[in-house]
Amino acid sequence: MSVIAPTGSDRPLLTGGAYDPVQVETTAMDLRVTGRIPEWLDGRYVRNGPNPIGAVDPATFHYFMGDGMVHGVRLRGGRAEWYRNRWVRSADAAKALGEPVPPTSGVSVAANTTVIGHAGATLALVEAGGTCYALTDELETIGSWTFQGTLPGGYTAHPKLDPASGELHAISYRFDQPGFVQYSVVDPRGRARRVVDVPVAGSPLIHDMGLTEGHVVVLDLPIEFDLARAMRAVGVPERMIGPGSKVASKLIGRVPAGGRLADKAASRLRNGDMPYSWSPEHPSRLGVLPREGAGAAVRWFEIAQCFVFHVLGAYDEVDRDGMVTAVVVDGIRYDEVFVNDDRGPEGATTRLTRWRLDLVTGRASETTVDDRQQEFPRIDERLMGRPYRFGYATGLAPDGTGTVDDRILKHDLVSGTTESHSLGEGVEVGELVFVPRAPDAAEDDGVLMGFVHDGATGADRLELLDAASLESVAQVHLPARVPHGFHGNWLPA
Ligand SMILES: [Fe+2]
Repeated sequence: MSVIAPTGSDRPLLTGGAYDPVQVETTAMDLRVTGRIPEWLDGRYVRNGPNPIGAVDPATFHYFMGDGMVHGVRLRGGRAEWYRNRWVRSADAAKALGEPVPPTSGVSVAANTTVIGHAGATLALVEAGGTCYALTDELETIGSWTFQGTLPGGYTAHPKLDPASGELHAISYRFDQPGFVQYSVVDPRGRARRVVDVPVAGSPLIHDMGLTEGHVVVLDLPIEFDLARAMRAVGVPERMIGPGSKVASKLIGRVPAGGRLADKAASRLRNGDMPYSWSPEHPSRLGVLPREGAGAAVRWFEIAQCFVFHVLGAYDEVDRDGMVTAVVVDGIRYDEVFVNDDRGPEGATTRLTRWRLDLVTGRASETTVDDRQQEFPRIDERLMGRPYRFGYATGLAPDGTGTVDDRILKHDLVSGTTESHSLGEGVEVGELVFVPRAPDAAEDDGVLMGFVHDGATGADRLELLDAASLESVAQVHLPARVPHGFHGNWLPA
């Protein structure tokens, strides 16, 4: 059933096809497999993404605002034991489904962006102050998740796990709290041991971050909360928006009622517009904060105007004497985005870019690593925060529509080369995550795993590629459509 009316080729994320949401939750056992699933894979591949419940208004729906749905495949002993998809029962999603609201607190924004495992829990995450949710192993919603009450104000969809300490590092922001972002460190048992406010100007959208052995990198870039757009989206009459937005912008974050108002406003934005816009007067800068430093210790590095949703990786550059002299950050650079009232990241130019932030001179330099259109960058996360050789990304259509295409890109940051591998004409590749063969396996000794749509047959599969050769290892054929989404992870049993 198609729930989104076609709106023309200028809105590819809304025209159905492999982005069209499904309206059924499926449980299927013993899935058909082509090739051989490696016996050493024992766990779940899970992936989150927007999947509105019921019909949406194509005039206002922003892809990023759709109700969250998690898809999962259980692999064990060379078999694909099950496939499941479940909506994340945020308060608003549960109401829309006519179900009791699970135990919940905080602002109801669709928890649609990623799903991770931490402290024994499976967590559906979202940013901007929205409530995150804990799921069972079978993807049923348990209730909201605030890290045992230590982070009640929302989190991020791109925390970074330090492989040495087992701690999760995050940069979080709230749409209703301008002037600062929050750096948090969550211990392996799931409690924040450190929360630091980092001052920023205005209300930037900060989707990802960098983590090195000694620092975190804050992406303070020119997409900002747009109050007029938010007011329009929740139904404020146009004649009120000019004066109204000025008064309200002064009150946001300052009046005690802000939290309840914010929750009401967020509910009305469900499956609607996203109240953030390109804000060219906002600085483009990267902040380097020592992991154990106070918020005021952040050092800002001005960079050429751009936006970065996703960081591939980051590390400290060390000289012969062991002094950290620079921080290196690799990310997918957009020249600009959300400029013309877009309903998704369309019409944008992306490229893999390296920024070197020189701690001695205080200056940033920028080089293009690969200028092909791409997104969803991932590394071998055993190397999170450390120098890495290989990075993987999904190709985007060269026409700038922002839709994924048939290519996986494997970057070799040491040799400075990129291998582009097509999975076949008409195939559409989602984000691929690297899973090492063993804890001590070489950097690209393992598989890349993610959902793939076959445009020729309309079928979807979980694809497993050899990360060294990029050849197919196994294909798990799925019994239902899996619309394209955002981020996934391998959660070992
Ligand atoms: Fe993301």
